[in-house]
Amino acid sequence: MPLPLIFAPVVFLLLAAIQPAAITAQSVPAICVGDDACIACHQDKVNSYRRTAHSLTSRPADRDSVHGGFGPGSNILRTVNTNLYFEMTTNEAGLFQTAWLRRPPNEIGHHTERFGVVVGSGRKGQTYLFWKDDELFQLPISYWTEVGGWVNSPGYPDGIAVFNRPVTPRCLECHATAFKSLAPPINHFDKTTLVLGITCEKCHGPGSEHVALYRSKAPPQSPTNGAILNPARFARDRQVDVCALCHAAGSPRPSVPSLSFVPGDVLDQFIDVPKPAPNAHVDVHGGHTQLLQRSRCFRSSATMTCSTCHDVHAPQRDLASFAPKCLACHKIESCGKFATLGRKISDQCVVCHMPLQSTDLIISSANGTKLQPKVRNHQIAIYPEVQLQ
Ligand code: HEC
Ligand code: HEC
Ligand code: HEC
Ligand code: HEC
Ligand code: HEC
Ligand code: HEC
Ligand code: HEC
Repeated sequence: MPLPLIFAPVVFLLLAAIQPAAITAQSVPAICVGDDACIACHQDKVNSYRRTAHSLTSRPADRDSVHGGFGPGSNILRTVNTNLYFEMTTNEAGLFQTAWLRRPPNEIGHHTERFGVVVGSGRKGQTYLFWKDDELFQLPISYWTEVGGWVNSPGYPDGIAVFNRPVTPRCLECHATAFKSLAPPINHFDKTTLVLGITCEKCHGPGSEHVALYRSKAPPQSPTNGAILNPARFARDRQVDVCALCHAAGSPRPSVPSLSFVPGDVLDQFIDVPKPAPNAHVDVHGGHTQLLQRSRCFRSSATMTCSTCHDVHAPQRDLASFAPKCLACHKIESCGKFATLGRKISDQCVVCHMPLQSTDLIISSANGTKLQPKVRNHQIAIYPEVQLQ
């Protein structure tokens, strides 16, 4: 039996809230060659890059890429609505999410969709998308790593099944590399053009000319003639813009086509990046750029960029490994805690000066419990309340 109308009002509200003001033509850069084209000459970088959150941030859905369980005991999510639960199943045709709704006394309705695309490396969690013809929607159930199981997708009310939330181009702009939008609605894409994961060329620009040059008999003598963009050669603001494209919670300017920003461009012409007042609250999720820019370290040094601490070509999981970056500019003795705690602080700078804090922007729930991820606050500052464990 098809799902009853109870779903309709919610679905309608969500659609109304998300419809954009203007839709613009978009194109996939035809000259993107993909990461495989870089392996021959940059093998180490490509191999380590493939393990990063950027590379893994979107993938086709399969048993490896979807972290949630499909076996008995792990494939059911109950909701606060005792008449509604979700079941995750798998067979030779794929992976499926089904909402089961009981309407007393004895009618049972269900709605099933197939997992199409995984969004999220799984550091914190994953959300899943499904196709209806060429339209892309978000599934109501996500996976939460800290909980180790299924949860209601962020922003989805517990106890209601919503299968009509459209996926915007902006979502794919931050979590994928390339795609071509089709005529409205907003979530209408040419499936064959969707390049999942963030690839080298997202930060280095189209690579085909570079590959051809270095494969030729007379490769360039100076890397600056190499027909590829290296953000390290940009002015500081443009370097930060490469990351702020996705790490500053900006929204696209209505008249600018998606995917038209190229590293080196002035981001502000493409994306309306929020510029909060000096003391205004900035959420730790998505606000990495603005928070860093507020730090005295950033303002008082002419050189700090995201690359001062991050090498995006490899996973960075060891918090202690960041301390030497601090100590490149600071002496351990200048820390006010050195007098009392001594060398104990030497690899713990980040714990106290960039504390983990909960975001208010991503809220999920499971079994009636509210879940909010913790994000590293990029405003490097003094937080007297933070203690070492
Ligand atoms: C046929 C070999 C070859 C291929 C394929 C290749 N590169 Fe390179 N690349 C080089 C060489 C050689 C250099 C120069 C290294 C140097 O001088 O330090 C270089 C330099 C670079 C630089 C630094 C440029 C600069 O201005 O400092 C970047 C970025 C880069 N490559 C990215 C890529 C990407 C992305 C791909 C895949 C799309 C790729 N390369 C494919 C050979 C290649
Ligand atoms: C195209 C969008 C995009 C660009 C450009 C981008 N990022 Fe990201 N970044 C993301 C997304 C999305 C994630 C979260 C991926 C996930 O976990 O699924 C992420 C995650 C990260 C992480 C966490 C990685 C981890 O393993 O914990 C760091 C650090 C990071 N980005 C730094 C940077 C820096 C530095 C730059 C610029 C050189 C940059 N990003 C450019 C989208 C982007
Ligand atoms: C402006 C860029 C941007 C947009 C738009 C965006 N995200 Fe993200 N997303 C990020 C960044 C950056 C991170 C990781 C950094 C953080 O947690 O603050 C992230 C993290 C995530 C994660 C957690 C990944 C992990 O394992 O930690 C999921 C899941 C996710 N996003 C899904 C989505 C979905 C689905 C959409 C669209 C409906 C979306 N995001 C829209 C930039 C974006
Ligand atoms: C999220 C953005 C981003 C992605 C994705 C990315 N890079 Fe880079 N890359 C950078 C930045 C930023 C620099 C400059 C780092 C610095 O300041 O030293 C850089 C520098 C380089 C360099 C020159 C400096 C060096 O360390 O040798 C090469 C070569 C390079 N990248 C290759 C690649 C390849 C190959 C891939 C894909 C496997 C890739 N990059 C993916 C941002 C990125
Ligand atoms: C590129 C150089 C550089 C790096 C890297 C750097 N800082 Fe700073 N930091 C500065 C400068 C410059 C100041 C301002 C000092 C001044 O004005 O006396 C500063 C100020 C500070 C302050 C005082 C903040 C305030 O609001 O009063 C703290 C705390 C601090 N840094 C901690 C750190 C930690 C922890 C790290 C590593 C995560 C770090 N810094 C990395 C350059 C840097
Ligand atoms: C002074 C050092 C420093 C600088 C500069 C810096 N970061 Fe980070 N960043 C860190 C540390 C430390 C972590 C925590 C790593 C961990 O927990 O494993 C981190 C984590 C992140 C994460 C993962 C967030 C999370 O908590 O889930 C993202 C995304 C990120 N940084 C983006 C950026 C961007 C974008 C810039 C530039 C605007 C930047 N960072 C500049 C030190 C830095
Ligand atoms: C236990 C938490 C903790 C750790 C770990 C820690 N700090 Fe601090 N730091 C503080 C506090 C609290 C202050 C302010 C102290 C005061 O004013 O008495 C401070 C002050 C500072 C200042 C500002 C000095 C000034 O007067 O402007 C710098 C710079 C600094 N720390 C750098 C570091 C570096 C670098 C590390 C790692 C080697 C580090 N801190 C580790 C808690 C910590």
